[in-house]
This record gives sequence, C-alpha cells and structure tokens, in this order.
Amino acid sequence: MKRILICGANGLLGQRLSLMLSTQNDYEVLNTSVERSFVYDNKLFDYNQLDITSRSDVKSLLSSFQPDVILNAAAATNVDWCELNREEAWKANVTAVENLAEAARKVEARLVHISTDYIFDGKNGPYDETAKPNPLGYYGKTKLASENVVRSAEIPHTILRTIVLYGSGFGVKTNFALWIIKSLKAGKQIQVVDDQVGNPTFVSDLAMAMIKSFELGRDGIFHVGGGNLLSRYDFALETAEIFGLDASFIKRIKTSDLVQASPRPMNSGFITLKAETQLNMHFLTVKEGLNLLKHELQSNGKN
Ligand SMILES: NC(=O)c1ccc[n+]([C@@H]2O[C@H](COP(=O)([O-])OP(=O)(O)OC[C@H]3O[C@@H](n4cnc5c(N)ncnc54)[C@H](OP(=O)(O)O)[C@@H]3O)[C@@H](O)[C@H]2O)c1
Repeated sequence: MKRILICGANGLLGQRLSLMLSTQNDYEVLNTSVERSFVYDNKLFDYNQLDITSRSDVKSLLSSFQPDVILNAAAATNVDWCELNREEAWKANVTAVENLAEAARKVEARLVHISTDYIFDGKNGPYDETAKPNPLGYYGKTKLASENVVRSAEIPHTILRTIVLYGSGFGVKTNFALWIIKSLKAGKQIQVVDDQVGNPTFVSDLAMAMIKSFELGRDGIFHVGGGNLLSRYDFALETAEIFGLDASFIKRIKTSDLVQASPRPMNSGFITLKAETQLNMHFLTVKEGLNLLKHELQSNGKN
C-alpha cells in the first residue's frame, strides 16, 4: 500500500486531496497542516500537526511515516500579504519546500508540488510549460524559487502550475467564486476587473491531476487550468447566472482602479495540452465547475 503524506490538508486543495484519497483502499494517507486539528473528524482521518517551515519537524515526521509520495498543498497564498511580509512569505513558500525536498531525498519519496501562473508577467498568455517565467510580484517570485528548489533536488517530482483556483471546503479562505456568490447573495455591489484573463480551475481537477501525476509516475512541469479562458468580470457574470444571482451588482472596472500591494499578470492563462495528454485529464469548463460548486454548497447547506 502506498503511503501518502498531504501537507496543508486544511486548505482548499488539501481538503479535496484528503477526501479523494482517503476513500481509496490503495493508499495509507497521513494528513498534516500547520493547525492543531484537522477540519474533518480526526477519528476518521489520520492527522498530525506539521509546520513545514520547521526543518527538524519535517525530518522527524518523514522518517517516522516513510511516505512514498508527498503532496504539497501548503503555501502562503495571499498575494498582497506576501508582498508586504516578504520574510515570512519566503519561509512558507521556499524554505518549507527546501525542507520537504531534503527529507524526501532521505526517504526516497516523490514530491508533488503546486505552483502558479503568477510566475509569469501576463504580457503574452496563455502560456505553455516552456514559456519563460518573469514574476511581477513577490508571491510569484517565491513560487518560482520553490519550483527551482524542487527541480534541483534530485528527487522524483512533479510541479503542477495552476490558476484562479476555486471550490468549496470547510473553513477555507474565500476564493474568487465564493466571494462573488457571498457578495451577490448579500446584495452587495462589487467591483470586478475585466482586464485580468485566465482559466479558472475547479479544485477537484487540480487534486485529480496531482493524483494522476504520481499514479502515472510523470516527472516535470504541467499546466493545470479549466476549460475556458476568460476575464474575471466574465467569470463573475457566469457565476451570477449559474447561481441565479443578480448580475447588476457587478461593476466592471480595470485593475488600475484598485489599490493593491502586489502587481498581477493581466493577459495570463494556461495551455493545458500536456496535462490533458500525459496525465489523461479532461478539465472542466467554467459552467461545469460552477454547477458542481453549486451542488456542493447545496449539499453542505450553504446555498
Ligand atoms: N488560490 C488560487 O487562486 C491559486 C492559484 C494558483 C496557485 N495556487 C496554489 O495552490 C496551492 C493550494 O492553494 P489553496 O488555495 O488550497 O491554499 P489555502 O486554502 O490557503 O491552503 C493552504 C494551506 O496551507 C497551510 N499552511 C500554510 N503555511 C503552512 C506551513 N508552514 N505548514 C503547514 N501548512 C501550512 C495553510 O494554513 P493557514 O491557513 O493556517 O495558513 C492552509 O491550510 C498553493 O500552492 C497555492 O500557491 C493557488
């Protein structure tokens, strides 16, 4: 039986990985995250607190659990916070990955790591895996540095870059789709930029691509993104339509109208052909992903 270690199991992606893997007999899964307890019942799921910025804690947990695969869903994900808290952002997004890579080498585990489209400058997307990175902000710089750590670690590894991740989970930080739904339901007017383009990714697609990457033993970088390339504004309109909410509360603006600590890539997006062919994935369209999200929120009594 393969032993799988999930880091960041309390986050949006980590929770999804945990649910998808824990229902399969082929795997022994250990969930870990920085918090003391797991969002799911600790009696049903194995959980250990693990702050991956602690080199000694990572070393000791990995040498006792001896994972075959490490799925790293942990990161400092708030882009503006990273811009303003550079030392802590580096620790969470780079030093932590050095710790995982070092310990993975010792126990001969595969490392599956997540990166982002923010490693690109957004001048000429959509990007494929061979495009040259040029991060605009500090978050993107830390994620690019983390990729370089993984690539030079001499361990079997996969790096999945993703973009505008959305989905639901218990106590997760808000994401773009959840923010739109919550605001429109509350009758709040929101301002949404129409000049940032990307392909929003439903969280189950990313979790499944991670799982396929180690099941198929695929090394290297893969771009994972949803089936439609569209602006944030158009994504907000689609969300309103699928959730039956009043789109007239969505005000169209430009990124330059916002005061944000970190610059964003504008003309971004991913070409996902490599993941579709080599990981055998079919990525959901925005309509499909939002309908699934609606169903999930209804099942959890949140819609
Ligand atoms: N969200 C997006 O639009 C997007 C886009 C592109 C790429 N990504 C990437 O996708 C991955 C997953 O993102 P997500 O949206 O699932 O993030 P998330 O919901 O913020 O989850 C990240 C989890 O990692 C935990 N964590 C942070 N520092 C840790 C540490 N030192 N040790 C252990 N756990 C730690 C967080 O705990 P706390 O909450 O307590 O800090 C949180 O539970 C990340 O690598 C992110 O960079 C996300």
